[in-house]
Amino acid sequence: MGIITFPRGFLWGASTSAYQTEGHNAGSAFWDWERRKGWEPSGAAAGSWERFEEDLECVKALHLNAYRFSMEWSRVQPGPDRFDEGVLARYAFWARRLKEEGVRPFVCLHHFSEPAWLLERHPEGWLDEGVAPRYLRFAERAAGALREHVRDWVTFNEPVVFIVGAYGMGQFPPGRRLLLRPKLLERAVRIMARTHNEAYRLLRRLQPEGRVGYAHHVSALDPARPGDEDAVMAWDSFMHRGFIEATKAHMDFLGVNYYTRIFVHRSFLSPLPGRAVPGYAEFERGVGGPLFKLLGGRRGDGEPTDMGWEVHPEGLGRVVGALWRDFGLPILVLENGIADAAGSRREGFIRDHLGSLGGVMAQGAEVQGYFHWSLVDNYEWGSYRPRFGLYSMARRPAPGSAFYAEVARTGEMNVDG
Ligand code: BGC
Repeated sequence: MGIITFPRGFLWGASTSAYQTEGHNAGSAFWDWERRKGWEPSGAAAGSWERFEEDLECVKALHLNAYRFSMEWSRVQPGPDRFDEGVLARYAFWARRLKEEGVRPFVCLHHFSEPAWLLERHPEGWLDEGVAPRYLRFAERAAGALREHVRDWVTFNEPVVFIVGAYGMGQFPPGRRLLLRPKLLERAVRIMARTHNEAYRLLRRLQPEGRVGYAHHVSALDPARPGDEDAVMAWDSFMHRGFIEATKAHMDFLGVNYYTRIFVHRSFLSPLPGRAVPGYAEFERGVGGPLFKLLGGRRGDGEPTDMGWEVHPEGLGRVVGALWRDFGLPILVLENGIADAAGSRREGFIRDHLGSLGGVMAQGAEVQGYFHWSLVDNYEWGSYRPRFGLYSMARRPAPGSAFYAEVARTGEMNVDG
């Protein structure tokens, strides 16, 4: 295929999240959760709260012109009626520094972590409509403090993954296990979608020239066997399209987080939407290998990453192409990356995924940027073992980062390596 040239003004970025990088977010519901679950403690994480200037040096060394970070709700609002102006000023300073260096900040307001007090006040979490005005109040203060330097807002990171994790599988606080009661999960999805829409209106009122979207986790889906097509459609609608349908009038861009491909099987034994048996590594681990097999589950056979996820670059172009065709919203890839402790696969991963993305852009899909997950190694919700960083925690470049830096610098890439 030769050389791909990305459009002028294309955004080359990296993404991080507050809880995973800043360290010592003791006001988050995750802090105690880690202990209760017996997870490896997040502790100092990548130390980014203190080491922002070093992170910025990494961003610059990579020639990035965009950087996505999140604001930790529990730091900004340590109690239901208390906002910390010093914290808001610090985040505003980060945004200003990025802008000064020619790097466009993308600010996410909810990346899984929520204040412990929120769940004390609202033990039902997002099943309770009362959470929405709390989130909106936080969003208003956050945007008020940063709007001078920030135009691009991400209301939620992976809303449906968050709901399945927190309310379906009991992995995240508040740890509900309602997977067998999809109606309740759909209620949480509905409340969150409505909250996004309200946040959109609020943020655009505060900042008419601002842009608002969210980062949606989208996997490529394939039928596990002939006859499984309906289950694929039902799962696609539950995990991906339902939320987009409910929010599409309130988005300036659609953020896509893409990591892998999932096979979906239909089994009358499954209580999930569409009687689906989705072949996520986490689902297989959750129900146990033998039951997964019995249900007819299937995993991809591409070489797995350190997370056990199949590498499937072609899927990125496929999902972006389909979303562009069906919704016509500008697309930003806000996460894509590989857990690769050995460091031998990141370059090929980036090349193949950008090749796939370039292909669909050549066919007309409007893609405005690509953000790699992640800038630095960080806390992968329970463990430090997975290494997603372009930099190590010591801020040393990981293999593959020089390649990415060169693509970001030139806006060109040789697909053949
Ligand atoms: C999440 C990140 C996570 C990454 C790798 C995404 O689903 O937004 O928080 O670290 O995947 O698992």
